Amino acid sequence: MSSKQLLTEDATYQAIQNYYNEHGSSINIKQLFASDDIRFDKYSLKLSTPKDGDILLDYSKNRVTDDVWNLLLELAETRDVVKARNDMFSGEHINNTEDRSVLHIALRNRSANPINADGKDVMPAIRAVLEHMKEFTSDVLNGKWRGYTNKKIADVVNIGIGGSDLGPLMVSEALKSYNQGLRSHFVSNVDGTHMAETLKKLDPETTLFIIASKTFTTQETITNAKAAKDWFLKQANDKSAVAKHFVALSTNKEKVKEFGISTENMFEFWDFVGGRYSLWSAIGLSISLAIGYDNFEKLLEGAHYMDNHFKTAPLNENAPVILALLGVWYSNFYGAETHALLPYDQYLHRFAAYFQQGDMESNGKGVTKSGHRVTYNTGPIVWGEPGTNGQHAFYQLIHQGTRLVPCDFLAPAQTHNPIVGGAMHKILLANFLAQTQALMQGKTEAEAKSELEKSGLSGDKLEKLLPHKVFTGNRPTNSIVVKKFTPFILGAIIAMYEHKIFVQGVIWDVNSYDQWGVELGKQLAKAIEGDLADGKRVSAHDSSTNGLINFIKNNWD
Ligand code: F6P
Repeated sequence: MSSKQLLTEDATYQAIQNYYNEHGSSINIKQLFASDDIRFDKYSLKLSTPKDGDILLDYSKNRVTDDVWNLLLELAETRDVVKARNDMFSGEHINNTEDRSVLHIALRNRSANPINADGKDVMPAIRAVLEHMKEFTSDVLNGKWRGYTNKKIADVVNIGIGGSDLGPLMVSEALKSYNQGLRSHFVSNVDGTHMAETLKKLDPETTLFIIASKTFTTQETITNAKAAKDWFLKQANDKSAVAKHFVALSTNKEKVKEFGISTENMFEFWDFVGGRYSLWSAIGLSISLAIGYDNFEKLLEGAHYMDNHFKTAPLNENAPVILALLGVWYSNFYGAETHALLPYDQYLHRFAAYFQQGDMESNGKGVTKSGHRVTYNTGPIVWGEPGTNGQHAFYQLIHQGTRLVPCDFLAPAQTHNPIVGGAMHKILLANFLAQTQALMQGKTEAEAKSELEKSGLSGDKLEKLLPHKVFTGNRPTNSIVVKKFTPFILGAIIAMYEHKIFVQGVIWDVNSYDQWGVELGKQLAKAIEGDLADGKRVSAHDSSTNGLINFIKNNWD
């Protein structure tokens, strides 16, 4: 493939660099607000969804002047974001190292329009699998589908890892208030503790296992699936009972059959669905079982709404593009290493973990699409926890530490649990609002001094404490506020971040859809597994690895 101009050679990128060199250290968000009454209007975006209210993206609390913002928007143009977006939607093989289309957008295409991959409309097959999911969900929920002793299913265990775990887990938790009665469990880790602790809670007669694996070769998933099958058969003592209790979600029919699950109990998806973009596919079956198919469909509708927004909105009014450009500004010019996702909604407690994979496996790349080593930073370290818990754990560093940590705050105006007459939710929201304000405005030495004096402190004691009480402020945040985290809104927000990651990948010119970086560890683990199989001392590795292996061998009985 022909190579794209290196980002650092792009004239607009260089103009931004010059702007940063001249002004970067003096841009102050508090001053920007003081000198511009309509800053919020200029730097916020309200998306009116057809269902479930508006989505507000407030990006005014950023180190962004009109000049730099115009340059950043120009960068999206010079880096051909529009063309890349159109290529994705039209099924081009934008995943060049695996020679594949990237069509998670087709999984949630609610229009009648065809979407082609390799000259074939993928929509009929997608609709057929959705129909299968709908039927199966209804059969399990209404008790038509029964276990081998004719009892209704009560527990569903999703066995998968990475994208085959994090998406369904995050969404099932985020939408727990829509649960239709089944208990959901997720087993991912090859650490037997995960499976053992889950099995303790289960009755084989009423448990359904979903084996979720795109490739159906992932060591952790296949090992866990075998452990679950052994446990099940020990109690059911009848191989034919497996069909009532095991279903598979995969692209790999052969491997599913080999495992002992008939293709009737298989929900298919395709190579154009990346693992970390797969919750919209058959991988979402555990979501559908948890919240009901109608709600799963609303999740798809929300994502489709965001796809259309991304596809049609001009760059300066395009939520994923705006988030992406801000991220580039901080990563590539201010040298920010991380990006925090801070949902003020307990149900979203796995949101940051989900986008850790979504972002870091997508854009954690060191070479361009054509294989040249990059000379600039690519994907950030993504992390976060729900508020207000994070406030009492790591916000100290965000407020007063030496690193710049751009943060996205996400909050719903309405809670699903208005206990104490909604008062608790108001406390939660007050905290969210206060944090973004505090991070932006900080506290000057004069303000801190006056507070200390008011509290009765003076002299040496005051002088000693004063530097610790100063907040430099000027710490950037985005606020994403919705009416309520409904299935539709959650679908839209997830898709918004997916497209943000895509846009950043285009600007950095990396392939956001492969993940070769996970291979080396897998290869070496296979070799080491062999070394662990016998009692002999090991000497073939580096001395550290030898030492660790031999220590373990000396200590495992
Ligand atoms: O860690 C690599 C990876 O391939 C992820 O991209 C993927 O989500 C996960 O493993 C699980 O893969 P599979 O669904 O094929 O089991």
